[in-house]
Amino acid sequence: MQERYTRTAILLHWLIAAAVLAQIAFGWYLEIIPLGAPPRAAIINFHKSTGLVIGLLIVFRLAWRLTHTPPPLPESMPAWERSAARVNHVLLYACMLIMPIAGYTASNFSKYGVKLFNAVLLPPWGVDDRDIYALFNGLHVGTSYVFVTLIAIHTLAAAKHMVFPRHGILRRMLPL
Ligand code: HEM
Ligand code: HEM
Repeated sequence: MQERYTRTAILLHWLIAAAVLAQIAFGWYLEIIPLGAPPRAAIINFHKSTGLVIGLLIVFRLAWRLTHTPPPLPESMPAWERSAARVNHVLLYACMLIMPIAGYTASNFSKYGVKLFNAVLLPPWGVDDRDIYALFNGLHVGTSYVFVTLIAIHTLAAAKHMVFPRHGILRRMLPL
């Protein structure tokens, strides 16, 4: 019997994969809302709120992952492919952390702060400074491009394992 991920790891993987993809689409949608449009602030606050919830899920996943060893990649896989998968996964975890932290930090260096689900104002703990805001916002936007590239590579690799299922890689992450 091939070693596989546990049910918790599988649940967290697909829940966060879906949430992150939706959040990226949401972020891109923010870019096309015209400046000054009345619902713009409410929609941006909704992105901030969903982003914080996803961020908490990610922190939980990372803590869980650091305390639970995943199944080793099969020896039958070429060494370069195993190394590439490991590097890709580490970078994916890094982007998962940087995205919410950079977005949240940027928001605290603006007078708007975060209005959680447009109901509870979390008063900003930083000063209202455009340069510091731009720094963290730049990190948020810049990391989003790296993240999308890594997800594309990751998904293509998974698709390759679906077409050539020699090592049973995709099955390890499926709930069947
Ligand atoms: C997993 C979490 C998150 C993801 C994947 C994500 C993703 C994105 C993406 C893709 C964009 C569009 C970038 C562009 O091309 O310009 C964006 C914009 C933005 N995000 Fe997030 N985000 C996340 C969490 C957060 C959080 C927690 C906050 C704040 C509390 C936040 C605040 C913003 C703001 C204010 C913008 C607009 C930036 C601008 O256009 O200047 N995001 N986000
Ligand atoms: C729909 C697209 C996706 C597919 C088909 C997919 C598939 C997989 C598969 C099959 C594995 C297991 C690899 C192994 O056996 O070692 C895996 C692991 C992983 N995936 Fe995805 N994935 C997708 C989307 C995502 C997204 C969007 C993220 C990031 C938010 C992500 C992050 C990860 C991470 C970090 C691992 C390593 C898990 C660990 O060992 O801790 N995946 N993925």
